Amino acid sequence: MCGIIGYVGQEQASSILVDGLKRLEYRGYDSSGIAVLQRGHVEVRRSVGKLANLEQTLSGGDLQGTMGIGHTRWATHGKPSEQNAHPHRSGNIVIVHNGIIENYLSLKVHLQQEGFQFESETDTEVVSHLLASYMKQSQSLSEAFRSVVRELQGSYALAGICEDEPHAIVTVRSGCPLVVGQGEKASYLASDVTPLLTHTRDMIFLEDGDIAVLTPGDITVMAVDGHRVKRKPTTVDWSADAAEKGGFPNFMLKEIHEQPQVILDTLRGRYSYDSGEADLPDLSITSEELSNTKRIWIVACGTSWHSGLVGKYLIEEMLRTPVQVDIGSEFRYREPMIQPDDLFIAISQSGETADTLAAAHEAKRLGARVLSIVNVVGSSLARDSDGVIYTRCGPEVSVASTKAFTGQVVALYLLALHIGRIRQQLMADDGRWWLDQFRALPGQVEHILRQEAEIISMAKRFYTKSNFLYLGRGINYPIALEGALKLKEISYIHAEGYAAGEMKHGPIALVDEEMPVVVLAPRHRLYEKTVSNLMEVKARNAPVIAFVSEGERELGGIADFVFSIPHSHPLMSPILFTVALQLLAYHIATLREVDVDRPRNLAKSVTVE
Ligand code: M6R
Repeated sequence: MCGIIGYVGQEQASSILVDGLKRLEYRGYDSSGIAVLQRGHVEVRRSVGKLANLEQTLSGGDLQGTMGIGHTRWATHGKPSEQNAHPHRSGNIVIVHNGIIENYLSLKVHLQQEGFQFESETDTEVVSHLLASYMKQSQSLSEAFRSVVRELQGSYALAGICEDEPHAIVTVRSGCPLVVGQGEKASYLASDVTPLLTHTRDMIFLEDGDIAVLTPGDITVMAVDGHRVKRKPTTVDWSADAAEKGGFPNFMLKEIHEQPQVILDTLRGRYSYDSGEADLPDLSITSEELSNTKRIWIVACGTSWHSGLVGKYLIEEMLRTPVQVDIGSEFRYREPMIQPDDLFIAISQSGETADTLAAAHEAKRLGARVLSIVNVVGSSLARDSDGVIYTRCGPEVSVASTKAFTGQVVALYLLALHIGRIRQQLMADDGRWWLDQFRALPGQVEHILRQEAEIISMAKRFYTKSNFLYLGRGINYPIALEGALKLKEISYIHAEGYAAGEMKHGPIALVDEEMPVVVLAPRHRLYEKTVSNLMEVKARNAPVIAFVSEGERELGGIADFVFSIPHSHPLMSPILFTVALQLLAYHIATLREVDVDRPRNLAKSVTVE
């Protein structure tokens, strides 16, 4: 959570910083601030609330200077307030911070004994004072940083400037994302690539322990002992436009509509139709290892966990290999019984989710091969894994995850095909048949997107309700969970996802005419059973929204709304239902006038546990 940014160059820093913070606002938006070196003095401006408030504060244009740092906050320590907003100052040093300093209380006691006064409730302020303290015996800000990081426990990406060093920003990374970029006579830093795209394509993804000094013409990376470290720049080919709204009213709707392209991009160049095989060059896990895999673990959080659950149904049915799916925060502390020849798959859009990362580290420690399915190139999870399948979704800006889910499920399809062909559980003809199913998906998703008007009608009928129940079976049980998650996080309506067969064991007590029930009923061997569950809620007067396969007519007179998804193999249906449920949640939320891209209390990237 929190986004940090920095600029040193020839242009006015404040507009570059604010523009960059706009692109980072998804990481937190309860307050924001910037610091600019102006005629030898660092001026700080901070505001509570969304970035527009900071822009208002800066509208006089009085902040002039060509070096500065900025921050958009998602509160961890201390309520959203101007005092708790970053940047934080100590003497002539000003810093911004993303992450958590876990030992801040003990550091604070020492600093107070030294005479430092604390003005905020944040953990960050200990870092600014520690820097000021070390600065007394250091030759430079980078030297002071090197001393300070030895004392810090926790996760952080920090950037600082000092009035005595008018052309240098120092930035350090440990456990939180940080990227630096070199432009024409200018250097940049940010929590992710999106603010940098309009300025440069050549970026360095800093690694844990790196300390970088940015000057207008140079970026130097060093280790904590001061030795220079060589880091290879990566050319990032995301277009700057990809990070913009592209004509949609918000990022969420844009990202929902990008899903046909995401499927195409995630599949592109990764299969051979002739041999019916998937080709995953970055997998770095040998065919022999995959053949010998007795058990697969999948670990993720939130929406990515739901795609992991889809993966379980998919892999167990296609490959007959047992799959254990865990939530990151549970896995890491439950002493999992991983065997060295198990395959561990971590799924994450951001690649920075603290619990998923920690789970992957634990799996590695226990001897498993770690494969990640990740969207953000160069993210911590991608770098810490043995192999990676990138989902190629482009930047997902809206807090509610949509296209990332679809990319993850497509990656799982490719992986299942790859393993199935290696083990010869699938022959070339089978492989081609599956590839036909995958390749049909973009058109099928487009078909659903064209029926958005039907979903808007449903939303109009139900958007004032306070509770929703989502029911699904088999591979669409996780989709019931995902549909409910999407609705609750962006509309603030209470929603439960349930396995349809489990409904009778409790939730049915809640069902009445005020509770719409969304039922996922594809044509499948469990169709009749799902319809029985639908009849049970209908008998209790619940309004029913049925999502069925094309051509299914019998629910027409029973359900209040029937929405058809294109005919597909049941294992392909999760993506199709999910897109429809994303639209339902989206339209209900917009009717309730929620800021869908930035729902309350949530952050895009959960980099603390
Ligand atoms: O970046 P990750 O995929 O690891 O993020 C995991 C969850 O935090 C994320 O999916 C979250 O649940 C979304 N807000 C769901 O829309």
